[in-house]
Amino acid sequence: MYTERLSLKPNEYEKSIARASELLRNGGVVAVPTETVYGLAASAYCEDAVKKVFKAKGRPQDNPLIVHIADMDMLFEIAEDIPENALICAEKFWPGPFTMVLKRTDIIPSGVSAGLDTVAVRMPSDPVCRDIIRKSGIPLAAPSANLSGKPSPTEPSHVLCDLDGKIDAVVISGSCDVGVESTVVSFTGGTPSLLRPGGVTLEQLREILPDITVDSAVLSEPEKGAKVASPGMKYKHYAPKADTYLVEADGEKYAEFVNGRNNGVAICFTEDSDTVKVKKIVYGSRQNEATLAHSVFDALREADALGAETVYVHAPSKTGVGLAVYNRLIRAAAFRVIKL
Ligand code: TXA
Ligand code: MG
Repeated sequence: MYTERLSLKPNEYEKSIARASELLRNGGVVAVPTETVYGLAASAYCEDAVKKVFKAKGRPQDNPLIVHIADMDMLFEIAEDIPENALICAEKFWPGPFTMVLKRTDIIPSGVSAGLDTVAVRMPSDPVCRDIIRKSGIPLAAPSANLSGKPSPTEPSHVLCDLDGKIDAVVISGSCDVGVESTVVSFTGGTPSLLRPGGVTLEQLREILPDITVDSAVLSEPEKGAKVASPGMKYKHYAPKADTYLVEADGEKYAEFVNGRNNGVAICFTEDSDTVKVKKIVYGSRQNEATLAHSVFDALREADALGAETVYVHAPSKTGVGLAVYNRLIRAAAFRVIKL
């Protein structure tokens, strides 16, 4: 299959949005930008289109998709019995990197929610994404537009690297602002529960949901065969080809450790750049977690491009959006953490 490149240059913008929407309305799959990561979109109302998404990504069938909406009318079409605190969160965090798991209506085919009676819903803020949802007039089911298990795509080149020839089109926009996927909160079990940390931080959530709990899968490896609240959290994920380790250490100990392993590649902070002497990829400043979130997936992909065999990532703090970065890295590292 030829994958169309849809350009957003000013004189092509309207045409490309119209083409993406037409493909989506007709059951096609199109990679679209969002403020978090690129998503692989399909009509959330079309079971066959959704099947193509799972096939293109090689995604396990038991891992449900997030449905992207442009307005509150779409929310009420796909979810019901929405608790008051969820509506307050919607008001506060939408449009933005925030996903709510709610009770679903029958309009959502079971393939979207992998047979669960819930649906994950998000209203993205990216203007291109919003234009595509509005123009197509339907909610879009979209997981991240990467091959299952690979680092999530934050640039069109990442999408093409994984999915060229497997999907109908890619909308060529810039690099994603946030860089890690949305925060996922479940509102279906009484007390709200954080299933996946993301661009909206736990600190921000606690201001509105003081009793929010953090699912154990956020920072630790689910037991083999255990039932997990967010199926996506049980897989090895976001991983480069290289053997990856997460290293928790201060700057001095980290540098000493990686410098002693001369065939490894360091994914480190700007603050480490003078002291780390092995091959390195800088992913942002230790002091500014947003910069780390923005570049973490690109850094993991770059490690592959360098042909790295072993990668040692300097672990971020678990505060602010750092918690989301830590959550992705611990999976990229298959839970191998070195504490110095
Ligand atoms: O930022 C994002 O959320 C991106 C962009 C494209 O919007 N999307 C994304 O989708 O990250 P995906 O499929 O890579 O991750 C969806 C996560 C998975 O961990 C999945 O298990 C969880 O959301 N999820 C989806 N539906 C769920 C449900 N009904 N109950 C519990 N978890 C659910
Ligand atoms: Mg994903």
